[in-house]
Amino acid sequence: MILVLLGAPGAGKGTLAAEMCSSFKLKHISTGDMLRQNMREETALGIKARSFVDAGKLVPDALIIEMVRERISMPDCKEGCLLDGFPRTAAQAEALGAIAHVDMVLYLEVETDALVKRISGRRVCEGCGAVYHISWHDGDVCPKCGAKLLVRDDDKPETVLRRIEVYNQNTEPLIGYYREKGLLRTVDGSGTPEEVFAAVRGIMEKRV
Ligand code: AP5
Repeated sequence: MILVLLGAPGAGKGTLAAEMCSSFKLKHISTGDMLRQNMREETALGIKARSFVDAGKLVPDALIIEMVRERISMPDCKEGCLLDGFPRTAAQAEALGAIAHVDMVLYLEVETDALVKRISGRRVCEGCGAVYHISWHDGDVCPKCGAKLLVRDDDKPETVLRRIEVYNQNTEPLIGYYREKGLLRTVDGSGTPEEVFAAVRGIMEKRV
């Protein structure tokens, strides 16, 4: 089963994906996480991607499509995967359709004001990658693994607004694209993480 999580920066895709993957035994494929890992390790891809990611721009389609093509052909994706942050452009959506059969697209709908509040309070664990928000965890240390909590480089206010603009221009049109294909399910992403996950669970259970 291939599921796609669609939503603006800060909509809660990563938070929801973590819950979904542990409950539904799906492999979490986050293109943002993959790019950040490549950037940390200074791979050829990471070096090419850094200037785009840091500026809040999209990494060129050809690089992303090749990265995802390789990743979803790996054995751990055989049972299914949850794509978080991909596709983000019409070209990526077309490429995905040619590589794999998409079963469902969950669109996480959240107002822009809430996106900015969520991103500006986000903290990410440099050890295990867990995501927190200062409204419910204000410490400097990850309660799960004890590593330091950091602010993501692309979470600076000016970059956040740029990322939302880039989303509106390039990614929002995919809502219509997948609706026309009959694959889109819209989820109200404005509630708590528990409420959002309960709504998604309902959709998933109806499907089975
Ligand atoms: P990526 O890492 O994918 O970033 P994004 O799409 O901008 O999404 P975020 O990670 O910012 O937010 P999220 O929706 O996962 O929210 P989260 O759960 O963390 O991409 C980064 C960059 O990589 C891009 O800008 C681009 O440069 C590049 N890139 C990646 N994919 C690409 C592609 N396909 N093509 C080209 N370039 C690509 O939650 C946010 C905060 O809110 C957290 O603090 C969380 O605790 C909190 N929160 C979550 N859910 C809730 C809730 N329900 N209620 C209250 N708070 C909540």
